[in-house]
Amino acid sequence: MIAPLVGFLLAAAPCAAAQKTELESFIESQDIRRPEIERVLDRLDLKPGQTVLDIGAGPGLPAFKIAERLKGQGEVFATEVVPEYVEHMRKQAKLQGLSNVHAVLVSTSGVDAFYGAHRYDLVLVYRVLWFIRDRETYFAQIRNQLTPKGRVAVVTEEYQPAMFTREDFVDMKGFVTELMREPAESPFGRELRALLPRLQKTGDEKRDNEMLSRAAIFSLNRLLSEPSFFLHFVDGGGFRKDVSFTPEERTHAMWQLHLLQSEGLPNVNVPLMRYSEYMGLQHLNKLLMIQRFRKHLASGGRSPYLASSPEGAWQREKDPVRREFEAAGYQLEKKHDLAPFLQMSVFQPR
Ligand SMILES: C[S@@+](CC[C@H](N)C(=O)[O-])C[C@H]1O[C@@H](n2cnc3c(N)ncnc32)[C@H](O)[C@@H]1O
Repeated sequence: MIAPLVGFLLAAAPCAAAQKTELESFIESQDIRRPEIERVLDRLDLKPGQTVLDIGAGPGLPAFKIAERLKGQGEVFATEVVPEYVEHMRKQAKLQGLSNVHAVLVSTSGVDAFYGAHRYDLVLVYRVLWFIRDRETYFAQIRNQLTPKGRVAVVTEEYQPAMFTREDFVDMKGFVTELMREPAESPFGRELRALLPRLQKTGDEKRDNEMLSRAAIFSLNRLLSEPSFFLHFVDGGGFRKDVSFTPEERTHAMWQLHLLQSEGLPNVNVPLMRYSEYMGLQHLNKLLMIQRFRKHLASGGRSPYLASSPEGAWQREKDPVRREFEAAGYQLEKKHDLAPFLQMSVFQPR
C-alpha cells in the first residue's frame, strides 16, 4: 500500500507519534462515521427477519448498525479477509449480546464456499467494490444466492479530484479581491498573497486579470499539498467553531482528519507518506478552502466538490458500477444520490 514518494511536495518533519493499527483507527472512527452509515441504511428498507450479507465488513461498523435495525430477528453475515477484523466482530457480537451477527473469514480469491450456504435478502458492498477482483464472475455467482426479492446494494465513493480549476469559480473577481485582503497572518494570507502582488502588469487589463486569476488558483492548489495547512483550523480533537462546514462536509472532514492523525500527520516521516494519506490531505485542505471561499464557488449538487472534473463527469456518464452489474446479470433498481461524497446503486437480478 505504500505509494510513490511525495516528499518533494511536503516538508520533512521529525518522526512521528506512534502510528495506530488500522483496527484501532477504524474503531475510533465509529462515532464520526455514524451519520454517514445511518444515511446509507435509511435507504435500504431493512426489516426484522431479513438475512443480510455484508461483504468486506471491516471491523463491522455497518454490520452492527444493520443488526440493530433487524431488532434481533434475522441474520447478519459479515465477511472479511482480515482475521483481526473477524476476531474483533466476534468479540463485539458477544459483548453486545448479538447472537445474529456472524463474522466470517473468507478467502481473498473468488467467491468463498461460505457464501453458498445461505440465501440473502440484501447483500451490502459498502466501500469494498474496488477491492474485489474479477467482479463480473464474482457477482454473477452471488446472484444465485439471492432470495426471490433479494438485492445487492453497492456504496462507492464519488471520484473527487483535488485541484481547483477556473470553472469551479463563479465569481473569480470577488475571490481574488477577497484573497488580496486576507490578513498576512491568516493561513490563506501568508501562503496565497505572497504570489499575487508580485505579478507584473502588462497594461492590458483583461490579460492582467486573467493572470491574477490563474495565479490565485495556482496558489490555492499549491496549498492543497501543505501538510500543516489543516492544523490552522483544528482545535483540540475537532475543527474550530468558525469553520462553517455543511453536515456532510463535517462528517467527511472529521473522518479525513481522524485518518491523517491516526497516521501521525503532520509529524510523519513525510517522504514515505502513503498515496491514500496524501489524497486525504488534499481533500481535507480542499474542504477547508471550500468552506472559506464558498460564496465565490459554483454550488449545488456535486459542486463545488466535483464541478469541473471531466473524470467525475465521465464516471457518472459511463457508470462503471452499473455496467459491471449488468454484465453480471443484474438490473439497476435505483440509484441513490448520497451527494456529495458517496453514491449507492441497488441492483436486482434481471
Ligand atoms: C474500506 S474497507 C470498508 C469496510 C466496511 N465495509 C465499512 O464501510 O466500514 C474495505 C474492506 O474490505 C475488505 N476486503 C477486501 N477484499 C475483500 C474480499 N474479497 N472479500 C471480503 N472482504 C474484502 C478489506 O479487508 C477491508 O476491511
